[in-house]
Amino acid sequence: MAAPVVDAEYLKEIEKARRDLRALISSKNCAPIMLRLAWHDAGTYDVNTKTGGPNGSIRCEEEYSHGSNAGLKIAIDLCETVKAKHPKITYADLYQLAGVVAVEVTGGPTIDFVPGRKDSTVCPREGRLPDAKKGSQHLRDIFYRMGLTDKDIVALSGGHTLGRAHSERSGFDGPWTKEPLKFDNSYFVELLKGETEGLLKLPTDKTLLEDPVFRKYVELYAKDEDTFFKDYAESHKKLSELGFTPPKSISASKSDVKSCTVLAQSAFGVAVAAAVVVLSYVYEISKKGK
Ligand code: HEM
Repeated sequence: MAAPVVDAEYLKEIEKARRDLRALISSKNCAPIMLRLAWHDAGTYDVNTKTGGPNGSIRCEEEYSHGSNAGLKIAIDLCETVKAKHPKITYADLYQLAGVVAVEVTGGPTIDFVPGRKDSTVCPREGRLPDAKKGSQHLRDIFYRMGLTDKDIVALSGGHTLGRAHSERSGFDGPWTKEPLKFDNSYFVELLKGETEGLLKLPTDKTLLEDPVFRKYVELYAKDEDTFFKDYAESHKKLSELGFTPPKSISASKSDVKSCTVLAQSAFGVAVAAAVVVLSYVYEISKKGK
């Protein structure tokens, strides 16, 4: 399918959809499942074949019926109410925007969102998303296939600060943290604490403690929430843009904004310097006159 034309009107629709998503996610308390939807649409990317990725294909029954996507039809249907109001916006953009808004409204970091993703109805084969019962080599195989790094694996696993597992969907049950509707670094704090009654740790969560490279990041994020937020926002942006090259018009308008800012700053600097020269001249004249 063709890429959307990201003009002023499209950007306006994105801002309206962002507001609608904020209201929807807050009123339905559905931030966790919206984040999971964004991640499962994007996380099928294969950097070698350039297939899968954040292209809205998860809306097709063939893909949302994959075992790993159990329950996500709920989030797809919730997004449909926003799509109906803003039909111009692609599903691919809408799902990624929902993920960004989910993190934001639950108190997490602001994630830069660039629109313009193309929709696709070509579904990847089942098996591209991680299996929660496996270990660190499996996590690396899956995330490296997306083109992501060890740091991305740990930072993004922090998404489990939100939400819970449902036995009828995944076979696992319970939340990872005591406040599953608050985005903070408590996933890492709880992971380091060990087993706590009522809280869940998937085998793939525990593996982050056993692998020395992963563990270094777990310890860092547990003690420094600011660093977690900074790294999470970077990794989430990467995930949401896998296989996506922002339209030229946007990068151009962004760099136009930048160069305008630089020009405005330089003009201001010149004006201040000129004012100083004039004032000192006036001062000299008035001194001579005395
Ligand atoms: C590292 C590999 C990962 C594995 C093996 C994994 C596995 C799972 C499983 C089994 C569930 C429970 C689903 C259910 O029963 O409803 C779940 C939920 C969730 N996952 Fe992951 N996940 C991974 C990475 C991620 C990433 C990268 C994010 C986002 C950045 C994420 C966000 C979530 C959220 C928010 C939920 C809660 C959904 C809800 O409350 O409905 N996960 N994950």
